[in-house]
Amino acid sequence: MKIGILISGRGSNMVALVEAVGSGEIPGSEVAVVISDKADAAGLAKAAERGVETLVIERNGRKREEHDAEIVAALNDRGVELVCLAGYMRLLSPLFVQAFPDRIINIHPSLLPAYPGLNVHERVIAAGEKTSGCTVHFVHEDLDAGPIILQREVPVFDGDTPETLSARILEQEHGTYVEAVKKILATKSNEQTERN
Ligand code: GRF
Repeated sequence: MKIGILISGRGSNMVALVEAVGSGEIPGSEVAVVISDKADAAGLAKAAERGVETLVIERNGRKREEHDAEIVAALNDRGVELVCLAGYMRLLSPLFVQAFPDRIINIHPSLLPAYPGLNVHERVIAAGEKTSGCTVHFVHEDLDAGPIILQREVPVFDGDTPETLSARILEQEHGTYVEAVKKILATKSNEQTERN
């Protein structure tokens, strides 16, 4: 399975996936490319250090569809079969979603369908929630919607700030994302066996 990862920033989830593929924890796969829509994304250097091809494809004032078409072409050129969004801060156009039906997944730092969108941890704390967590889900055209693949709960403590809560959740995100990709691979290889 060839995997393409899209980032906009730090790239810690991307690193977790690249390392799990490299160590064989995610078997039978390869990270074919890491694409960022931001030239200054810190994750780019982390991917390059790990020997993964990196590309910067900025929007540059273009329409969303034009930008997405360039990314889709880059993914297709490399034979990517599974697209992992890892802190990619743009909404995908229908063109992008339809180019990889049920083959785009995302990680979001809340227990979806609760708290989609931005400023999640601020809102979770303000609402007095005792539990939050992270969700890996298939990407459909609506923001942070699409069938859930895996969730992991994380406690919210009295006195948590968005930073402390975000750090506690991030620790769980990395393993959750790896598990979710393994789950998808297992489903796909079962489908393959049934077809043969
Ligand atoms: C993570 O919290 C992820 O859930 C959200 O954006 C953040 C990205 O962090 N979508 P990183 O770039 O993977 O370190």
